Amino acid sequence: MHIEHQKSLQAYNTFGIDVTASSYIRVTDSKQLEEVVKAYKDQNIFILNGGSNMLLTADIDALVIHIAICGITEKKVDDNTILVSAGAGENWHKFVLYCISKNYGGLENLALIPGNVGSAPIQNIGAYGVELKDTFHSCTALDITTGKERKFNKEECEFGYRESIFKGIAKGRYIITEVSFLLTTHMHQLHTTYGAIQKELGAITTPTIKQIADAVIAIRKSKLPDPKQIGNGGSFFKNPVVSKTVLSAIQEKYEEVPFYELDENMVKLPAGWLIEKAGFKGKRWKDAGVHKNQALVLVNYGNATGNEILAIAQKIQQQVKKQFNISLQTEVNII
Ligand code: EPU
Repeated sequence: MHIEHQKSLQAYNTFGIDVTASSYIRVTDSKQLEEVVKAYKDQNIFILNGGSNMLLTADIDALVIHIAICGITEKKVDDNTILVSAGAGENWHKFVLYCISKNYGGLENLALIPGNVGSAPIQNIGAYGVELKDTFHSCTALDITTGKERKFNKEECEFGYRESIFKGIAKGRYIITEVSFLLTTHMHQLHTTYGAIQKELGAITTPTIKQIADAVIAIRKSKLPDPKQIGNGGSFFKNPVVSKTVLSAIQEKYEEVPFYELDENMVKLPAGWLIEKAGFKGKRWKDAGVHKNQALVLVNYGNATGNEILAIAQKIQQQVKKQFNISLQTEVNII
């Protein structure tokens, strides 16, 4: 076991925050992971995967286990379905591109989402009308408390909007090692009704999955900062679900407020719109700021600390509460 000490985690979180782990180990297969967990389970351990959905606000006094388990396998299910499994440490976008290159449909709307395969089920990643749960089949995870592997099917994961059992009651208990998806091999179910996708596709009425992925990539590139250039963790807040009474109160002042109807009583409001109206879009304090094209994304221009980013998040929460009487919940995990 090669354990490193006082290791900077700056390269391992997409916000690019420079905190230190008291000890650190990179594991590349599930057997090695089992051994490490067995040896260290009575000490503090901290699981790091793609580091794309976390804001690190302090040094980590624990053994950071960096999941780098890779590999992709495939199994034909029927004439139009294939079960594709990927190691938790596979880069998500590379995995999506691999599926598209083999003409496996289902993940194309989720192109260019930062992070790794193993983190994707934790928050049920979603974009442009598709969520991970739509093609998810199962995942394998190591139970830290027993040291044994177990499988989770879709129901057992309790997926919700950016939610799963791994963020809820099972938080911290399981380490996902592999995720399996049921994808289509020729009769693809396309999801192109999302306005921005239709606009991007233009005259293409029957797109291929590659054309959809290319449209998604173009939209994301135009709105969302590339973490390799500007540190960020994607949407910092969830889109709030509010009653139609709250919506009506907002509409009295802002007739144009965008919303998605969920049922006869509730709507989802875009947090990015609320934050823009609260005056934060494009604002910057030292190296921490709010992205100029998408107010839902907080950014690190270079040397921001996690606490500087967190301070902006709190200012936003206070102003949105004051102006709209809505409490924004973070989507990113604050560590
Ligand atoms: N808007 C503004 N100002 C802004 C940003 C957005 O007015 O600064 C308005 C837009 O004009 C639009 C609405 O808000 O009317 C929605 O914006 P957008 O389509 O960009 O999507 P979003 O609701 O802000 C969600 C996800 C994204 C996902 C996109 C596309 C959440 C928290 N975020 O953003 O997911 O890519 O939809 O499906 O649900 C992520 O989770 O990290 C993420 C990037």
